[in-house]
Amino acid sequence: MIFEFEEMLDFCRKHRVLIGSVVGVGITYFALRRYCAGGVCRSKARLDGKTVIITGANTGIGKETAIDLASRGARVILACRDVLRAERAATEIIAKTNNQNVAVRIVDLASLASIRKFADNINKTEPKVNILINNAGIMMCPYWKTEDGFEMQFGVNHLGHFLLTNLLLDKIKSSAPARIINVSSLAHTRTEKINFDDINSEKDYDSRFAYRQSKLANVLFTRELNRRLEGTNVTANSLHPGLVLTELIRYLPQTVPAYLRIFFPLILFFAKTPKQGAQTSIYCAVEESLENVTGKYFSDCAIKEEAKAAQDDEVAKKLWEISEKMVGLKH
Ligand SMILES: NC(=O)c1ccc[n+]([C@@H]2O[C@H](COP(=O)([O-])OP(=O)(O)OC[C@H]3O[C@@H](n4cnc5c(N)ncnc54)[C@H](OP(=O)(O)O)[C@@H]3O)[C@@H](O)[C@H]2O)c1
Ligand SMILES: *[C@@H]1O[C@H](CO)[C@@H](O)[C@H](O)[C@H]1NC(C)=O
Ligand SMILES: *[C@@H]1O[C@H](CO)[C@@H](O)[C@H](O)[C@H]1NC(C)=O
Ligand SMILES: *[C@@H]1O[C@H](CO)[C@@H](O)[C@H](O)[C@H]1NC(C)=O
Ligand SMILES: *[C@@H]1O[C@H](CO)[C@@H](O)[C@H](O)[C@H]1NC(C)=O
Repeated sequence: MIFEFEEMLDFCRKHRVLIGSVVGVGITYFALRRYCAGGVCRSKARLDGKTVIITGANTGIGKETAIDLASRGARVILACRDVLRAERAATEIIAKTNNQNVAVRIVDLASLASIRKFADNINKTEPKVNILINNAGIMMCPYWKTEDGFEMQFGVNHLGHFLLTNLLLDKIKSSAPARIINVSSLAHTRTEKINFDDINSEKDYDSRFAYRQSKLANVLFTRELNRRLEGTNVTANSLHPGLVLTELIRYLPQTVPAYLRIFFPLILFFAKTPKQGAQTSIYCAVEESLENVTGKYFSDCAIKEEAKAAQDDEVAKKLWEISEKMVGLKH
């Protein structure tokens, strides 16, 4: 010690206001971070012998979900579009969990042909699929179209997962008990409707509306899918992960005006880490008490009420039928 005890006390007395403030700010910071972290999945359930597919599992919430489920003994399939990014994530997940049973399968949700190829491959090579987590997503990108001419956010977040889920449904049903989980967003509550008159935003593109609409579609689909799954022992739930600092914000510099961008650091201060953001996905995938819970919307590891617009059975049905036509599933 370079200080005597006596000297130290003197120092504290002299600087008590400063020290008090620093400690106060520190405590407030950790309390605030703890509050923003939200719900935690406390289930210790194992997944040995179960197969899980997670879309967009190479980064962000999807990767953290994969790490957790792999550590519970599941076979985890990373359904990703970029081979290199996916292989890198697989190596990391295997190293962290010591579970060698982590595989990469390529799927681009912006291409119906790629989704069909992926589903066909899974159907042929995987004896079962017990958990499907529709996690991949894209937010507020510039006006882009998918390979098949759909507005990118509606195309990837909704239509791509719609086709994927439908193509894997027989396999999932035959693997029951099984769970399908959709990573939606609180953003779904910020729009009143699906714009059926211009579903691909061809007349007018608003990057924020397109994201909200795609996420509302996720929740509406949980509703209709749940109706169609009655009596199958397959549950279908959707969720909001929270505000999470991930690569999801990658396009914001292009689509958000400069004067709003100065608030980014403030917003990010309140964000969850990807691991905290994955808790509700993990909870919906493993929590034993949710065995028979279906058609619900979760946030912070608890059931929450979805927006009014997401509770409309007529709209859910109409969206299902239009989606079937758009992706070329019969009718
Ligand atoms: N972060 C938040 O605050 C927040 C809030 C509410 C909801 N969510 C939802 O949470 C989910 C996960 O987001 P995140 O925050 O973890 O974002 P992220 O870090 O950007 O991860 C998104 C993942 O989706 C993949 N993806 C994007 N387009 C794809 C395509 N066409 N085909 C296949 N994969 C594609 C990405 O692959 P690449 O790496 O190859 O691009 C990436 O793996 C999304 O559905 C998002 O809407 C997030
Ligand atoms: C998830 O969303 C997709 C696309 O919106 C939909 O096709 C699927 O039925 C939904 N599944 C669940 C479990 O909500
Ligand atoms: C999956 O394989 C089964 C037979 O194993 C077949 O009946 C079914 O049509 C296939 N599904 C798809 C979507 O290819
Ligand atoms: C669903 O599970 C219950 C028991 O958990 C079983 O009795 C029933 O046969 C199952 N139904 C189907 C369609 O698999
Ligand atoms: C789910 O339903 C099955 C069959 O009805 C029942 O045996 C089981 O106890 C239920 N599980 C929970 C957690 O309620």
